[in-house]
Amino acid sequence: MSASPFLRNQWYVAAVPSEVATAKPLRRTICNEPIVLFRGEDGIVGALTDRCPHRMAPLSSGEVNGDTMQCGYHGIRFNRDGSCAHVPGDLPAPRNFRARSFPVVEKHGFIFLWMGDKAADPALIPDFHENDDPAWASVPGYLHIACNYELMVDNILDLTHVVFVHKTTLAGGGVTETPLQVEVEGDRIVAKRIMHNVDTAPIYRAARGLNGKIDRWQMFEYQPPMYVRIVLGAREAGSDTPIGEPVHVVLNSFTPETDKSIHYFWTTARPWAIDDPKVSQLYREMIDLAFAEDAAIVAQQQVYLDTAPPGAGFVNFPFDRAGQSARRIVRRLLDEEAAEGARTAAE
Ligand code: FES
Ligand SMILES: [Fe+2]
Repeated sequence: MSASPFLRNQWYVAAVPSEVATAKPLRRTICNEPIVLFRGEDGIVGALTDRCPHRMAPLSSGEVNGDTMQCGYHGIRFNRDGSCAHVPGDLPAPRNFRARSFPVVEKHGFIFLWMGDKAADPALIPDFHENDDPAWASVPGYLHIACNYELMVDNILDLTHVVFVHKTTLAGGGVTETPLQVEVEGDRIVAKRIMHNVDTAPIYRAARGLNGKIDRWQMFEYQPPMYVRIVLGAREAGSDTPIGEPVHVVLNSFTPETDKSIHYFWTTARPWAIDDPKVSQLYREMIDLAFAEDAAIVAQQQVYLDTAPPGAGFVNFPFDRAGQSARRIVRRLLDEEAAEGARTAAE
């Protein structure tokens, strides 16, 4: 079994571009590691360990100087690749004196950071294109939640909870009665729940004027370690809108901060009324409320997990299957990474 709680050779959403838009660096802990993100004068973002290799002060206490990060303690500067750019007094730097650097990619309106030692694999960046696609209107948000990231993966992959947790926004008929169909395809999971002729949901009443019976769909794609893309839709019951057509998508990234806290980056995006700020406002209010409800319950869940008696564990029902499968995929990948690390160390 692997000892590390986090997959390393993966991308994690570290920030949104506007957070790293100025000369001011951003300090953010990701997978228990303090990291400083900064944007050089050339507009390119860099990410370094925030622990200065000189005396371990936070680099982020300093400032961006040209395209380098200047430590706030003694002013040593580092390039984006971690090499030393300047020591005050023009002193020579010892060989191998460098900060750890992390590959960074800005894509889909997010800053993705690669945590591992293996070469960064761009193919593993999730397809969250709707977040910055001009054909879609996106409403993004961020929540800091006091829970392990897997609790939120469980939460989002099992939307039966909408009926009980999100009574005024996402609830509606047919959810608990309709089984979730789950398929595991390698490291990915696809799941769906399609409901026919059920009571409408407050969000569809407010956003789409669907007041009577509806057909409704929830379609999920999970990608390790913690990405979930959801297509949600509804139509007047029996009408001819194709099942699976999105009313909106929800793009979820549960970046671990520590073992027991996350940076939750979310976006809802819709391909209709894209210039209507009133619709965006409606989404913002409803999703802010709903996700705050999730945050409250999972933070309490984490507290009870931490104080549970020895031997206590989870019990699984069919509606837990997608979350359970995600946990299994992460365990397997963690074991693979640990085995690979052990092989490399032995070479
Ligand atoms: S601790 Fe960073 S320059 Fe001295
Ligand atoms: Fe929820």
